[in-house]
Formats: sequence, structure tokens, C-alpha cells
Amino acid sequence: MAETQDDTPLKVIVIGAGLGGCATALALHHQNFNVSVYEKLPRFKRLGDSLGLGENALKLLRRWGGQRLYDRLTEIGNQAPDMQIRRWSDGKVLAQQPLMDMAGYIGHRGDYHEVFLQAVRDAGIEIQMGREVVGFDEEGPSVRLKDGEVVEADVVVGADGIKSKARELVLGFKDHPRSSGYSCFRAYFPGLHLKEDPACRDLADHDCVNIWIGDDTHVVQNTLRGGEEFNWILTRKLSHEKDMEITESWFQEGDLEEVWRCIEGLDPHMVAAIKKTPSDKVLDWKICYRDPLPTWVSKSHKIVLLGDSCHPHLPTSAQGASQATESAAVLAICLKFAGKNDIPLATRTYEKLRFARTRQSQTNGEDLRDRWHSALKLANEGKEIDPESVKMRNRPLYAFDAEADTLQRWHTVSSQVAEELRAGQITPLFQVAGKAAVSS
Ligand SMILES: Cc1cc2nc3c(=O)[nH]c(=O)nc-3n(C[C@H](O)[C@H](O)[C@H](O)COP(=O)(O)OP(=O)(O)OC[C@H]3O[C@@H](n4cnc5c(N)ncnc54)[C@H](O)[C@@H]3O)c2cc1C
Ligand SMILES: *[C@@H]1O[C@H](CO)[C@@H](O)[C@H](O)[C@H]1NC(C)=O
Repeated sequence: MAETQDDTPLKVIVIGAGLGGCATALALHHQNFNVSVYEKLPRFKRLGDSLGLGENALKLLRRWGGQRLYDRLTEIGNQAPDMQIRRWSDGKVLAQQPLMDMAGYIGHRGDYHEVFLQAVRDAGIEIQMGREVVGFDEEGPSVRLKDGEVVEADVVVGADGIKSKARELVLGFKDHPRSSGYSCFRAYFPGLHLKEDPACRDLADHDCVNIWIGDDTHVVQNTLRGGEEFNWILTRKLSHEKDMEITESWFQEGDLEEVWRCIEGLDPHMVAAIKKTPSDKVLDWKICYRDPLPTWVSKSHKIVLLGDSCHPHLPTSAQGASQATESAAVLAICLKFAGKNDIPLATRTYEKLRFARTRQSQTNGEDLRDRWHSALKLANEGKEIDPESVKMRNRPLYAFDAEADTLQRWHTVSSQVAEELRAGQITPLFQVAGKAAVSS
């Protein structure tokens, strides 16, 4: 006999309105769930610089927000057909590949964010700005906001970024970042600064992407909006203990003198461009690293992590926002399939469906960095550089359809999860002491 039917829509709280939180709101709304987004900042600024958005994410966003959203997003990206990978010392082209094989559409993070936020609002989803989540009740589940209000839901999603508070709750401890052993200097400024100088002005007269690879270092250059905006990102291996000290910040100012030292011996063409950087525009961005987490879901199974809070990426992966979008798609479908009365089945199937895929895209970034940083050493040993050996290998990630994959694997994976839930024994995603479960 049917019990009293509860036909109010599933209620989900999303913590954080970054790209991951926005994608989550769109994916959940697409399933007709009742979504509320809480964002601690009172307003957003245009922060960050180059961010890649791949076709794996764009195809999902098109389903949720239509062709118009797709067009607005792809317009933001670099319009050059190809990018060049060059030798550090003289700019000799070692390999050329289509941008679509590489990072997909590389645009300004702030511009993408603005379009994501607008898409959320266009869907009629409310984003409560200036409302920080400061506490949780796992069982409710509910969240407590800074002003004291407590809000309940069926599920809470912690899309609250690299310094996630939700992650502390899920893990039961503070997960401190480790240095990856690398650091980035980065700057984003008007292309106008380059236009006076014949030594580099060609880098600011059209959209283009070039990468110079050297020993334990590389620099990425991205010119956007037909030359209006210029971005460079210099990655180098840290050698001093002191440098490894971790201040995990997107905003730390960089020291230009240190930058000059790092680009000694670099192709004069790019040196001329970097020298145009206004002194207040350079950021020093330690690349932090985190071990894969044993779980993305709280003990109550009702609070889940998504995006940078559980699967942060290195810049060389160029997949941080795209993987967060895929996770949003998978979570929404799992919640729909499991139904309101079986949230644990949904959240635990979600983490199991996502883990191997995000590991793959995270380790792609490590692999690329290592190949770039060692290519010239091999050449010095007398070997020619094989262009294939320095190309980005992200293309296989783009064909993936996170929704179709979930439909296909739901039955098998959720049956296994149902067993684990019955036995009260959830298999960790990752054994901290052992080897990562990277195969799928
Ligand atoms: C300032 C900044 C600059 C970046 N620059 C780049 C870049 O140049 N290139 C690149 O590839 N990637 C960059 N990233 C990372 C990239 O944006 C992410 O990989 C991707 O967007 C997915 O992130 P996310 O939405 O999971 O987390 P985030 O983008 O970090 O968003 C998390 C959101 O949660 C909010 N929040 C946190 N705690 C709470 C709380 N307790 N209550 C309510 N809200 C909370 C934060 O204010 C933030 O808006 C940057 C991230 C940031 C934050
Ligand atoms: C969504 O949730 C809010 C807050 O709990 C509630 O006021 C609203 O009526 C809900 N909307 C629907 C369509 O159920």
C-alpha cells in the first residue's frame, strides 16, 4: 500500500557559488530539484587568469543552459586554432597542436564565472551572497549560517573550494596542503603594454597561445580578445626549503626581481613581453598538492564534496572547472535515480563513479609537467625531441559524456554500493598508505 506520498522536490543546499557550485546548481535544477546556493563573499571580483573549459564540460552545460549558454562560453575562449610548444632558449617550435586538443577553450576565469552566475540566475535559482556557512548538522542535514540561521535540506553539497570547511566535516580532520615542489608566477594585464615594442608586439596583435619549455621550468603565454589582454604563467621547480613553505593563496604578490632571475636564458622574444609586466600585476602562486581523499561523503552520507574541495587540479591539467562540472552532472543523476528516500545510495555511488576519472585528469597534469620539464634534458643527451612527447594529451578526456556514463554504470556500481551500505562497510576511495586506485 502506498504510504503518504511526499512529492515535494528534493531539497539541496549548495555551499559556494564558484564555477563548481554554479554547475551543481544548474545540474540539480535541470532535474527539478529545489536548490539554494549560499556564497560567503558579498560580491565577486574578476579574479584569476587563464582557465580551460573542455568539451567534456561544455556539452553538459549546453544541455542545462541551452545553445545560448554554450555560445557565450565558447566566445570567451582563445580563438586561435593552434598553439605552439617551443624551446626555452630560442623559441624554436618543437610541436604544434590544436587548442581543442589541449585545454579546450582557454579564457579568463572571471569571465567564465560571470556567465556561469548569470546562467544560474536565468534558471531562477537564488544565490544568497554574503552568507557564509559556519556549521553543520550531519544528520539533519542542515547548515548554520554566520548570522545564526539554520537551513535544512535533504542533501548538502560542499562546493566550497580548496580551503573547504565541508571537507573538514567529511574527513573529521583538517587536510593540510603539501607543496607540489613547484610554484607559478603569473600576470594578466592589457596587451597595450606590448604594443610599443617591436620585439614583442606581435604577441599582442591576435589571439595566440605559446609555451616555452625548459629544464624544470615552463612558461605559458595566452593572448585574449584579439590582443586586448595578455597573460603569462611561469612555472618553476622550487629548490629552497624556505620556498616550499606553504601559503595557499591566490593573491600573494610576486617579486619581479625573482621573475627576472627565472627568465634568464629564455627566448628574448618572450623576455621582452614579460618585461612589460606592470609591477603590481605579478602574483606568486605556490602550487599546492593534496593527497586523494579516502571519502567525499560524510558519515551520515548526506553531505558531499564536489569540485576543488575534493578533486583540485594542477594548472597543467587544465581541467579543474571541467571536472567540477562533470561531478555536478553525475551527482544530479545519482540523486534522481536513487530517489529522495535513498540519499546514501546516491552520494556513495556518486563518489565511486567519479573517483577514478578525476584521478586520471589530475595525474594527466603531473605527467605533462614532467614531460615538459625533462624534454630538453633528453635532447641534450643527443636525442631529437619527438613532437608527440611534449604534446598535451587531454583530447581523450573530451569525448567523455558524464551523464551517459552514469546511465551506463549506475546499475552495477549502485548495486555494489547497496551491498556496502547494508553491511555498514564503505570501501574507502583511496588507501592513504597504499597505492591509488587509478584504474576504472
Ligand atoms: C581566486 C581564484 C582564482 C583562481 N584562478 C584560477 C586560474 O587562474 N586558473 C584556473 O584554472 N583555476 C583557477 N582557480 C580554480 C578554479 O576556479 C577551480 O578549479 C574551479 O572553478 C572549480 O572550483 P570550485 O567551484 O570547486 O571552487 P572555488 O572556485 O574555490 O569556489 C568556492 C566558492 O565557495 C565559497 N565558499 C567557501 N567557503 C564557504 C562557506 N563556508 N560558506 C559559503 N561559501 C563559501 C568561496 O567564496 C568560493 O566562491 C581559481 C580559484 C580561485 C578561488
Ligand atoms: C524550495 O525550498 C524553499 C525553502 O525550503 C521553500 O520555501 C520552497 O517552497 C521550495 N520550493 C518548492 C518548489 O518546493
